[in-house]
Amino acid sequence: MKLAVAGKGGVGKTSLTAWIGDYLSRQGRDTWLVDADTALSLGSALGLSPQDVPIPLIQDEALIRERVGSGFINLNPQVADLPERLRVRTGGLDLVVMGSVAGAGGGCACEANALLKALLAHLIVERDQWVVVDLEAGVEHLGRGTVSAVDGLVVVSEPSWRSLSVAARIAGMAAELGLTRQALVLNRAENGSTLPDIPGLPPLTAAIPALTGLTERQLTSPSVLDLPERPALDLACAAILAALADQEPQPSR
Ligand SMILES: Nc1ncnc2c1ncn2[C@@H]1O[C@H](COP(=O)(O)OP(=O)(O)OP(=O)(O)O)[C@@H](O)[C@H]1O
Ligand SMILES: [Mg+2]
Repeated sequence: MKLAVAGKGGVGKTSLTAWIGDYLSRQGRDTWLVDADTALSLGSALGLSPQDVPIPLIQDEALIRERVGSGFINLNPQVADLPERLRVRTGGLDLVVMGSVAGAGGGCACEANALLKALLAHLIVERDQWVVVDLEAGVEHLGRGTVSAVDGLVVVSEPSWRSLSVAARIAGMAAELGLTRQALVLNRAENGSTLPDIPGLPPLTAAIPALTGLTERQLTSPSVLDLPERPALDLACAAILAALADQEPQPSR
């Protein structure tokens, strides 16, 4: 299964990506996590020390030039070897740090974008493993072909009007692109929270409370794994995955 995790800034996308990845790897699933956000914090959320987090692909100008060229851009660069070349293994997971497809800046934005999109498409469309992508807010940056191959979108939100409005907007954009299997996760919310009447929200599949263990840990470590609340987080992950699996497959698949 291929999942993308999206939501407003700061709502817990990276944490949830790490929790789902950790849960899947303990279930024995061959899982790749992709950091496709600008903040590049998935590695540290998984407990990697800064020197073990590789430079994001978006900053690897030599590799970008080698694969995509400059001037005449090769929009179909060879990427099949890149996941193994770029990955870091941690706790049974493979992590690829790309950077944001939307936020490609600097000297060779188009070239970087072309390579990031091709790599994501390869991981999502052509690989058999589980893939969980920590995205920025929108899903449209993935490109239509890649989005239609994603099996499920996990939309994270805090229990607030603003955060849920962004969640509904993301869900709407994704649905327009054909990504209709969606799960809403309320983070820092009590079970049984009632949702405001905002049209277009995905079905609520899990609520994760504010975690005291994480709040305490946060002062000394960026890792979000191995918390005392792990059993509850596992239940939330299982509920999210089951809800997505129960929904009709994407029409385009
Ligand atoms: N349920 C929770 N309880 C306590 N702290 C939490 C919880 N979920 C996330 N956090 C903390 O909130 C902060 C933001 O979480 P995270 O980085 O996962 O959000 P994000 O949506 O990925 O943010 P960004 O938009 O910046 O990428 C982190 O410090 C994380 O440890
Ligand atoms: Mg993040």
